[in-house]
Amino acid sequence: MGDNKRDKPYDVLIVGGLGHVGLPLGIVLADTGLNVCLLDIDEEKARSVREGKMPFIEYDAGPILEKALEGGNLHVSLDIKDASKARYVIIAIGTPVDEYLNPKTRQFIDFFKNLSEHLDKSQTVIVRSTVYPHTCRQMMKALDKKRECGIAYCPERIVQGYAIRELRTLPQIVAGMTKEAEDAAAELFGRVSPKIIRTSMGEAELVKLYSNAWRYIQFAVANQFYMMASNFGVDYDRVRKAMREEYERALTLPGAGFAAGPCLLKDTMQLSAFNSNNFLLGHAAMMVNEGLPNYIVETLRKRHRLSENKVGILGMAFKADIDDIRDSLSYKLGKILRFHGADVYYSDEYVEDPTFVSKEELIGKCDIIIVGVPHSAYKDVVIPEDVEVVDTWNVVSGGRRTSLEG
Ligand SMILES: NC(=O)c1ccc[n+]([C@@H]2O[C@H](COP(=O)([O-])OP(=O)(O)OC[C@H]3O[C@@H](n4cnc5c(N)ncnc54)[C@H](O)[C@@H]3O)[C@@H](O)[C@H]2O)c1
Repeated sequence: MGDNKRDKPYDVLIVGGLGHVGLPLGIVLADTGLNVCLLDIDEEKARSVREGKMPFIEYDAGPILEKALEGGNLHVSLDIKDASKARYVIIAIGTPVDEYLNPKTRQFIDFFKNLSEHLDKSQTVIVRSTVYPHTCRQMMKALDKKRECGIAYCPERIVQGYAIRELRTLPQIVAGMTKEAEDAAAELFGRVSPKIIRTSMGEAELVKLYSNAWRYIQFAVANQFYMMASNFGVDYDRVRKAMREEYERALTLPGAGFAAGPCLLKDTMQLSAFNSNNFLLGHAAMMVNEGLPNYIVETLRKRHRLSENKVGILGMAFKADIDDIRDSLSYKLGKILRFHGADVYYSDEYVEDPTFVSKEELIGKCDIIIVGVPHSAYKDVVIPEDVEVVDTWNVVSGGRRTSLEG
């Protein structure tokens, strides 16, 4: 690494380098001594990172970010032309589905065509974003002859918030459009990961989409079981506990709760689109997981005239102990409650929003409290006995518990 220094001053440039995937990866690579450039379009995040401040919660990232900036081997750029200046170009931009749940494949290929204007044959492009199958092949086709760089796929599999630890411990899946591109990607990721798993391109594409669809379906099983148990007047958590006790085959059954965020549903729908929309389990999982907020509201409406209630939602992030609200189901819950006339209050331990109230104020004000996400801080929360609680996670104490029979 580092040959042809004048031409290629950076070892690695990450496009989308200030995002939840790009930034942790960039600082972990910089921490191995590589000269890394984070290319993005978000000026606010660029300012924050240049000042050594993480723009979002990512545990253990702060000290490595500071160290890399002090060491002078981490740079931030807003100029796409800088893509020409790195041996490796990693792509970590978002790959959302549209409002009809179709992957935006054209948008990604158009973005890559634009990027490729600044690439040459000596470079290796590594796709880190989760992409629709065949995307790397389409990228190859989009390259003009002069700019035929290598293309590899090395999908990100970290769990948000814990990327620093996981990048250093998880095996990395590596596939290449050519053997050279695969070898180059394996060499780069070998610097941070204890194990490289080489696969074909098709295998790598399915590893990533199957991983997220699998998790999403598992959560749906738990959520459907929760709703069934609740309708039956039984506490799902107690059922789950009994099932798992000294019974290995049931250990992977998750707890119930909102299965949200920018990846699980999106990737399940990408897989469905890839399979000609024939993915019954994936669609069923979406109906169950997306239906949980509606179920909770319907349960409450059986006992309350919601227009006479103050309802508080504890936890607005899409998962515990982070500050990311992307595709959080707590907002969908709030919207449905408001539709039925409830006076709704939001609170969160990490998300900064001037319209939110503290958990203490929320508990003092509301006669119904719904736990949206099990932040660790809620373990110490004791809800007064006269307040009704919906807590799929069983994280808070006290309160009157909701079940349809209860
Ligand atoms: N968040 C996760 O935990 C996670 C885990 C595994 C895989 N992924 C996948 O990784 C990809 C990125 O997800 P994310 O959560 O980091 O998204 P993100 O929105 O946090 O980050 C994307 C970054 O790309 C930047 N960007 C957008 N367009 C750009 C452009 N044209 N040029 C340069 N920068 C641009 C954005 O400003 C943003 O900083 C997605 O495909 C996602 O499915 C995410």
